[in-house]
Amino acid sequence: MGIADPAGDAPRLGVGIMANLAIAPFVCAPGAVDYVAVTPDMFWTDRGRSGGSGAQRFTDVAAWVAMLDDARLPTVSHHIGLSIASAVPTDHGYVAQMAAWAERWDASWISEHLAFVAISDGDGPAAAGLALTAPFDLDVLDLAVERASYVREETGRPFLLENSPYYVAFEDSDLSEADFLNRFCDLSGSGLLLDLHNLYCNTVNHHFCGHRFLDHLDLTRVIEVHIANGSELGGMYADSHSGAPPEPVWALLDDLVSRAPNLRGITFEFHDSYLPLIGFEGIAGVIARARKAWSRRI
Ligand SMILES: [Fe+2]
Repeated sequence: MGIADPAGDAPRLGVGIMANLAIAPFVCAPGAVDYVAVTPDMFWTDRGRSGGSGAQRFTDVAAWVAMLDDARLPTVSHHIGLSIASAVPTDHGYVAQMAAWAERWDASWISEHLAFVAISDGDGPAAAGLALTAPFDLDVLDLAVERASYVREETGRPFLLENSPYYVAFEDSDLSEADFLNRFCDLSGSGLLLDLHNLYCNTVNHHFCGHRFLDHLDLTRVIEVHIANGSELGGMYADSHSGAPPEPVWALLDDLVSRAPNLRGITFEFHDSYLPLIGFEGIAGVIARARKAWSRRI
C-alpha cells in the first residue's frame, strides 16, 4: 500500500455544492454551504490545443467568475477536460491551466473522472464531445497513473480520481473496478472522489450491492464524496443529477462516513435544469441531511 492519507494537510471542508450560475443566490448566502466545488471548464472559454497558451487560449466567463468572487468560500477543482484515460498525447496547456486556476482560487484539491474525452480523428487529438467510459484495463491504469502523477507535480495539490457510471459492462477487463481504483491510488499517490450516485447507478444497471463494493475499496483513499439523483432512460438508470438523492444513496453515505477516516467533503451535485423541481428549499434540505451524515464521520 502507498501513503495512508493522499490529501496531506488539505482541510476538512464539510458539506458543499457543485457551483452553477442558477444557484448563485444560494451559494452566496452566508453559511448555506461550507465550500463550493467548481468545474473550471464551465468558468472559462477554451480555444483548444491550437489556441495558444495561458490567457491567449483560456478566457474567463465573467458572470460565473463573479459568482466565485461573491461567494468567498473555499473551493475544490473538479475537471472534465483532462481526459485521464485517453491514448492521445497529454494536453500540457490544459494541465498548466489546471495549475493556474487552482492557484488563483487556492483549490484544496483537484479531481477528474475516470473517463476520456480526447480521441484521435486521424489528424491529431479531437474532442469526443462527451465523457467516454474507460475499461478497467492495465494499459488504461498506466495512462491514468502517469497523468495523475504529472498533474500532482504541475499543480502541487492532491489529486482525486472519480469513479464513473458505466452503461455497458466490460466482461473482459483486466481488473475489477475496485481493484483498478485501489491500484491507481497506490501507484499514483492519489485519492478517490467516490461518487455514491455513480456507484448506485452501476448497482442498478449491473445488479450488485454497493455496500459490498465498499468492502473491496481502500476507504482510506476516499477524500471527497458526491451525492446526486438520476432517472430512468431507455431501460437504464442514468446519472442525470436530477435533484435530491434517493434513499439508497443516503444509505451508502451513512455506511461510508463510518468507514472513511480521511473524508474531507460531501458535495451535492445537481443539474441546473432541475432547479424548478427542487427549489432552493429543497437544496437546503439536502445540505441539512448531508450535514447530519458529516457529523457522524469517524
Ligand atoms: Fe460526480
